[in-house]
Amino acid sequence: MAVVKVPITKGISGHKAVREALRDTSTYSSDLQGDADVRDYRQLPLEVDPPRHHLYRTALSPYFVKPAIERHIPELENIAHVLVTNFFASGVEVVTELALPLVMKNLGVLYRRPQDVAEWISWGPDVWTAGGPTRNGDVLHGYLDRIYEEAISNPEEDIWSEIAVLEIDGKVISQSEFRGIAGVLLAGGRDTVVKLLTGMIWYLGENPKDLAMLREEPELINDAIQEFLRFLTPLPAMARTTTPESSNQDLPIDRYVSISFISGNFDETVFENPYAMNLRREKNPHLSFGFGPHTCLGNHVAEIEAKVFLRTLLSLDFDWKISDQSKIRFYTGDISSVPDQFAEVFLLK
Ligand code: HEM
Repeated sequence: MAVVKVPITKGISGHKAVREALRDTSTYSSDLQGDADVRDYRQLPLEVDPPRHHLYRTALSPYFVKPAIERHIPELENIAHVLVTNFFASGVEVVTELALPLVMKNLGVLYRRPQDVAEWISWGPDVWTAGGPTRNGDVLHGYLDRIYEEAISNPEEDIWSEIAVLEIDGKVISQSEFRGIAGVLLAGGRDTVVKLLTGMIWYLGENPKDLAMLREEPELINDAIQEFLRFLTPLPAMARTTTPESSNQDLPIDRYVSISFISGNFDETVFENPYAMNLRREKNPHLSFGFGPHTCLGNHVAEIEAKVFLRTLLSLDFDWKISDQSKIRFYTGDISSVPDQFAEVFLLK
């Protein structure tokens, strides 16, 4: 979740209230400067309200519609097969040795930038801590400025060259808008998918009966992926502001509201026995990709990556267990069965 300028004291929770708030963009605006400690430009289309939001969204949608991603499934399958096989032959730690390289290689294919994959992996799961433990934008911004210059002076057949010349409202985007778009396309599909894939390995390692069930009934895969998404809620909440920050109004200190996707995913009025994972759950209107105009643009990417990964795991004859849960941080309270963060996950194979 983006870090905002002042602490967030207000929140909206519950499935119905969260959906209503996410639709009501004039009360709960996305016009805010997130990560103000490390960047001074808006992530786009994330931090802009309709109607301008719609222009960015329309320009970027063709890259993320389902058929555009499905076209690459054979390449994603090859990547998953090689990485999963190598990992079970000689790897031990899931986040850095399997999930992160897999997600970065997948984006290398989808963005047509295989030459950047090693650099993206070197940043680790969070782009803001790529240069060390303290949050800092230098590494990401150095990369974004370099690819922008290249895209303008020497365009190639890749997503950056196309985005650098996108027209929004009849005007080619600026370098700052490019940073905002390319930055979120790199950051948005990174730690979220890494958490999802790591969580799948964690859960199936702890619940071998469910692993066997999926091997016997592969038709459950789609429902299982929705349930992994609900239970793991890789992005638990996002901020909105009650006063748009680019307006000329005074900005009250308590303007931020946290919209809790995770509270909707564990709402007992919507999900039967929400604290338990149920890979057979059929009705699953989870809010893991948000709701309303800002619904995740990369949802098909994430779902297809998860599906290819799970199919690969099931097709190979590996069984595993988690050797130690101490590097997994769980939530507290009602959802103490749910992992919040996987710093490292070691397998006992
Ligand atoms: C499991 C993986 C993922 C989860 C849980 C997730 C979650 C979300 C959520 C909750 C939002 C809405 C934020 C809000 O309302 O403020 C969002 C927006 C977004 N996501 Fe994802 N995301 C995932 C993967 C991806 C991937 C793979 C990409 C790109 C490759 C991506 C790109 C974006 C973008 C560009 C937006 C902004 C959309 C807009 O403002 O219109 N996400 N994501």
